[in-house]
Amino acid sequence: DRRYLLDCDTGIDDALALGYLLADNADALVAVTTVFGNVSVGQATQNTLDLLAIAGHADIPVHVGAASSLDGAFSGSAHRVHGANGFGGVELERSPVDASAESAPAAIVRLAHEHAGRLVIIAVGPLTNLAIALSLDPSIAELIDQVVIMGGAVLHPGNATPVGEANIWHDPEAAQRVLGSNLRVVLVPLDATMRQRLTAADAAELRAAPGRIPRLIGSALEHYLSFYTGVFGAPECALHDPLAVALAVGEEQVLRSARTTLAVDCSAGPARGMTVADLRTSYRGPVDREDEVNVVVLETAEGFGARLLQKLLT
Ligand code: BDR
Ligand code: CA
Repeated sequence: DRRYLLDCDTGIDDALALGYLLADNADALVAVTTVFGNVSVGQATQNTLDLLAIAGHADIPVHVGAASSLDGAFSGSAHRVHGANGFGGVELERSPVDASAESAPAAIVRLAHEHAGRLVIIAVGPLTNLAIALSLDPSIAELIDQVVIMGGAVLHPGNATPVGEANIWHDPEAAQRVLGSNLRVVLVPLDATMRQRLTAADAAELRAAPGRIPRLIGSALEHYLSFYTGVFGAPECALHDPLAVALAVGEEQVLRSARTTLAVDCSAGPARGMTVADLRTSYRGPVDREDEVNVVVLETAEGFGARLLQKLLT
């Protein structure tokens, strides 16, 4: 049976991803690792600790990860999307528990060995922790069962830049190291995640729920919805991180995917952070290097929002 590690920059949709995992199978979640991204790594860590404690899972260890991208250029700020505290300005009761003294990359290496062949890493922030873990111990690429990554934009436009998706664009060098490794990667890009939405009515339903976690997430979603209403022209928001979790646990149906090489543009030009897949299926030759091949999910079954809502409400 599989074990899960969530690597996140909590973040409102990261909180949805965590909520999904806890509701689905909290016992299989062996650790959460944090990274800069939507907010600083310190804030992401505190949000994660607080949510876990409120959910009654303060026993799940949280490991602090990278405070900035490998090149030092970014340390986290998507306040427009996630609010100044990363949780839409909603205050969380402080957890009595601190983060682990073991760093995120060290924990990834240890757990890859401890759960060899059955650890699934779900990475929904910049890929810095995983890149560092691979440098510490390249053998983990063969030990980790699968890495499901929310990141990238293949045929879809970017969200951080015209072609760059936020998680990849915040640390392209780390992403290139991960996607170019022998890890078995499933990439869940904006192509798939921008199609799946939660509505303002869904958020209101969460706010009226008996559970504390759904109620808090429902409140935080008000900020996230106000940002995405500007993007979509309707009171709906995109479900990035929870879709990666749902796919990782095998609960959503993939309608369109590609087995392809993936590269990340690490230049200083306008394509920096772009994920480049090879979709020339009609005329490309056989892919000869198995280790360069990843799976990209381009489309999943409609209606994930309703299923996510049910998951959080049960
Ligand atoms: C990704 O960027 C972050 O803002 C979200 O949490 C998600 O992981 C979407 O591009
Ligand atoms: Ca995220």
